[in-house]
Amino acid sequence: MKELSQKVIAAPKSKIRELFDLAAGRSDVISLGIGQPDFPTPLPAIQGNIGALKKNITTYAPTRGVPKLLELLEKKLEKINNIKLNWKDNIILCNGGSNAITLAFASIFNPGDELILSSPNFVSYFYCGSFFGVKIVEIERNLDFSPNIENIKASITNKTKAILINSPNNPTGYTLSKQELEEIVSIVLNHDLYLISDEAYENYIYEGLKHISPASLNGMFERTITLNAMSKLYSATGFRLGYVAANKEIINLMEKYLQYTIAGTNHAAQYGFIEALKMDNSFFDDILKSFDERRMFVYNRLNEIGFDVVKPLGAFYIMPSVKKFNMTGQAFSEKIIKEKGVAIVPGNIFGSFSDFLLRISYATDLEKLKVAMDRIESFIKEL
Ligand SMILES: Cc1ncc(COP(=O)(O)O)c(C=O)c1O
Repeated sequence: MKELSQKVIAAPKSKIRELFDLAAGRSDVISLGIGQPDFPTPLPAIQGNIGALKKNITTYAPTRGVPKLLELLEKKLEKINNIKLNWKDNIILCNGGSNAITLAFASIFNPGDELILSSPNFVSYFYCGSFFGVKIVEIERNLDFSPNIENIKASITNKTKAILINSPNNPTGYTLSKQELEEIVSIVLNHDLYLISDEAYENYIYEGLKHISPASLNGMFERTITLNAMSKLYSATGFRLGYVAANKEIINLMEKYLQYTIAGTNHAAQYGFIEALKMDNSFFDDILKSFDERRMFVYNRLNEIGFDVVKPLGAFYIMPSVKKFNMTGQAFSEKIIKEKGVAIVPGNIFGSFSDFLLRISYATDLEKLKVAMDRIESFIKEL
């Protein structure tokens, strides 16, 4: 048989899924691996979806998405993100935030182009890059996970096409300050680059910080590709709905790419998204409070147990270091799931600079988090 696709062969199977396989069938395992919030999807979203199915909305949807939904997204982007655009030209719906990433890569890159990102960072960027022949230039984050702006500047070559940011960030929880964002934006403008901004966690932001969308800043709309999804805000990862906001030319290319790859997204689910967008975002206030409580609990406990750890200001992840325990994140993760039944993702899947880190998700109820932290403490004591 002839050789299969080298690019796909070279990408490892998801380590997160592997971890869940290790935990499968073990009722004692507490998972701190999950990237899915634990609250139920708001009822209007579910009813909207069911209502559409009952009306036999089971045909292909328009490739860019149902117009009513795009109109509501236009309003949301204007009100929440301060991005002024026109839904007819500047928004496309897609199959989750993951597909939004694919669309960004498909529409701006040619093989050999370079994309700069801070590392550690979300795993899909690395493999999407390799599928499209893009060279990912990883710039190691500072110790507090802030971006190393000087090194970003120094890494620009004539092949650099774009910078990618993901704030609040998965896996570090780092949230860019206004000044850092402005510094990145000025690099983008000075070097005629694109900026890919993955805003999947825009609502998970603590300590009174405000999310800023770079596309709202002067001169940035035309060169920013804003990615977002229904998944995290509405705890609706299974709806598989995401969206991209960008300039007209880019959206036109994305539409073509979608036509020949997924031919539009789930039609009935879009009516669920419509109802979700009609809700007032205050439904999220108590949820955010509870995530904040979990964040501080996990951060304080990890400190107490003796980890070196940075307090995250966004998303629902925290990345402690295990270097002082003379172990890699991979070894720690394999050992603790076997011995104590706690599933934790090793840091090394998030790029080249995270071999001694772990990624802990605190999107789990506080009682479980308490037990998990006690188990981690006893694991460390027994080392
Ligand atoms: C930063 C980031 N972007 C995109 C996604 C993909 O989201 P979705 O589940 O909507 O495909 C995730 C999922 O964990 C993520 O963490």
